[in-house]
Amino acid sequence: MNAISFNKILNVVAKVNPFLVRSVSNVPKTVRGNISDQQNADETLSNRVFSLSKENQSVMKDKFGRVHDYLRISLTEKCNLRCQYCMPSEGVTLTPKVDLLTPDEIIMLARLFVCKLGVTKIRLTGGEPLLQPELNKIIGGLNDLRASGLQSIGMTSNGISLKPRLAQLQQSGLDRLNISLDTLREEKYSFITRRKGIKMVWSSIHEAIRLKMFPLKINCVVMRGLNDEEVVDFVELTRYYPVDVRFIEYMPFSGNKWKYGKLVPMAESLDTIQAHFRNVSRVENHATDTAKSYKVDGFCGSFGFISSMTNHFCGGCNRLRLTADGHLKVCLFDTNEVSIRDVIRNTQLRGQISRSKEIEKTISRDLESSVGLKDGLIEKKVEEVVTEALGKKFFSHGGRTEEIAQGKLAQGNRSMILIGG
Ligand code: 5AD
Ligand code: SF4
Repeated sequence: MNAISFNKILNVVAKVNPFLVRSVSNVPKTVRGNISDQQNADETLSNRVFSLSKENQSVMKDKFGRVHDYLRISLTEKCNLRCQYCMPSEGVTLTPKVDLLTPDEIIMLARLFVCKLGVTKIRLTGGEPLLQPELNKIIGGLNDLRASGLQSIGMTSNGISLKPRLAQLQQSGLDRLNISLDTLREEKYSFITRRKGIKMVWSSIHEAIRLKMFPLKINCVVMRGLNDEEVVDFVELTRYYPVDVRFIEYMPFSGNKWKYGKLVPMAESLDTIQAHFRNVSRVENHATDTAKSYKVDGFCGSFGFISSMTNHFCGGCNRLRLTADGHLKVCLFDTNEVSIRDVIRNTQLRGQISRSKEIEKTISRDLESSVGLKDGLIEKKVEEVVTEALGKKFFSHGGRTEEIAQGKLAQGNRSMILIGG
């Protein structure tokens, strides 16, 4: 979009929603990448462990032939909102800091996943990723992996404290952004999130548009009786806003009071939208896209559905998740997790856990060296553990598809805030 049409949009929007619009002058060019600060990073753990390699073969296939090249990393369990669908009303017990992955460990693991396991896409989640004090450093570290095959660095944010930081994050390498917004109404926003802040979210959305962070996605979890009557308003928004609104089916997680009746199936939302707007057309998606995308002809933005519950997209799943406490989840709904954190820490520390005879032999061969660092032992061990976990990946919903209908799916799984949205 050129600057003129962009200004025009914001002028129109200013009339509809004056409190939302800020100055649109000085639209900067998108600046991607900052590979020049490499020297300082040389001594970090991440750089000592791996040398960059260009052999980005997609090695992470599961037994259904799905190649997993997308890693979602949760940077923190903390959040400055308390969204009802994500955070239990009584809160969650936070993991002690010492048990969370450090920024260096995150960068090291990202390097491993990109250089050795073929990951091409990383998304930072949380909690709220902006609450991770070293977010900029982490994005910079990821940005250094572009030469090794990393193609995109995304983040999902609630937009509360994003505006003043976005330009810097973009300069560090952030190039994909999803902002959570479940209602356009101020009071309802405070009800859903149990906090105030919708104006700040809007100023972040405007800043993202000013910085041309396209495609800019707005995540909207649709809940019956709460915000389902707003789907038309959200689509109306795409008339002037160059955003992609994604209506997400409400999913069950521990403590989020999910009920089947609160879930609004994609088909129902689409019917409501089509009854209101003429000329809704389908937009082609990539096989691994989670959303089914649409557009009202002539509108500036688009919309789509993430129908995880009623029309799942598990067949094209290419995602792995790393929680803030370093656990690998091969599926959002699978309660089995494996601690990658323990693998890397114990491999580094040697002898802290009982190991298989074979690993023990490798270690004793390496006694003189710094085990795990110099000889790729961490790399080998992590690869082994990831491959094993992937081998056990179910086709859909972590093997619990049947349970969905009975409304039991939340049992045993963590709260979304602890998994990473
Ligand atoms: N159902 C659907 N989406 C959820 N998210 C969090 N909890 C749920 C849930 N129960 C997603 C939302 C939010 C992001 C952080 O995580 O899209 O925007
Ligand atoms: Fe925070 Fe996002 Fe969860 Fe809401 S959905 S509580 S913004 S992490």
